[in-house]
Amino acid sequence: MDASSIVFLNGKFLPVDEARVPVLDRGFIFGDGVYELVPVYSRVPFRMDEHLARLERSLAAVRIRNPYTMAEWRDIIQQLVARQPFEDQGIYFQVTRGVAKRDHAFPKDATPTVFVMSNPLVCPPQALVESGAAAVTAVDNRWHRCDIKSISLIGNCLLRQVSADVGAVETILFRDGQLTEASASNVFVVKAGVILSPAKSNLILPGITYDVVAELAKSAGLPIEFRPVSEAEVRGADEVWVTSSSKEVLAVVTLDGKPVGAGKPGPVFRQMHRLYQEFKQKVMRAGKGRQAA
Ligand SMILES: Cc1ncc(COP(=O)(O)O)c(C=O)c1O
Repeated sequence: MDASSIVFLNGKFLPVDEARVPVLDRGFIFGDGVYELVPVYSRVPFRMDEHLARLERSLAAVRIRNPYTMAEWRDIIQQLVARQPFEDQGIYFQVTRGVAKRDHAFPKDATPTVFVMSNPLVCPPQALVESGAAAVTAVDNRWHRCDIKSISLIGNCLLRQVSADVGAVETILFRDGQLTEASASNVFVVKAGVILSPAKSNLILPGITYDVVAELAKSAGLPIEFRPVSEAEVRGADEVWVTSSSKEVLAVVTLDGKPVGAGKPGPVFRQMHRLYQEFKQKVMRAGKGRQAA
């Protein structure tokens, strides 16, 4: 990020190198806060209301008051999007419990700290979409509230590094022999034409992309089931995909160095990837139309 890039901090738009947060902010001291990342295509935010609804749920779960209304959030994000020189953006926003004397118990009167920044959105390159990606596996040793989009991400960072160390794109996680998700994505598998993924629970982040994939599968008549998926089912799957706002839908073609199915992106993945791109285009055109009106 360029030093002059405009960010939003506590009510003000300012260059990132002028944005300052006190060291006693509980985000810095405890990782006490939550965040969101909204993809923006051609300056049109994708699934903004769903991201804001998830932010609201995360804030409620950690008992931080939402400092803004939905309309105020939308306005801040639109203003920040407009101030960037690039079209496709990843809008990151976080809210922490604010600045207070260090004490685990919540401060009585702290004001939440709000930070929003935009980075160019980097989607998987076409070559990776076509070749598929490598992933590795690990035991999911995170806490039991993975449904909260917490900024305390050391567990996820350690797990992501396991794949980064071997040049793989993701670390797929198993808890007690069952698939949960990956270090920064949700996971789908395909077996005999049926798309499978774990149902939402406290053990996975309810991904916005996961919901889009579910909707697209249902409207295209592709069989999809949300149920426990065992480690053996993942290892024996015909296809494995990871999904997230930045990865969109990406095929995993090797798992721990062994080929997944035929070792290349499968037919159900190719169909879902196409449906996802078409849906994105539709949302973008509708958003552009609204902006022009
Ligand atoms: C742990 C985890 N699971 C799943 C996801 C996917 O969520 P979304 O599709 O909303 O980006 C993410 C995204 O950052 C994540 O960090």
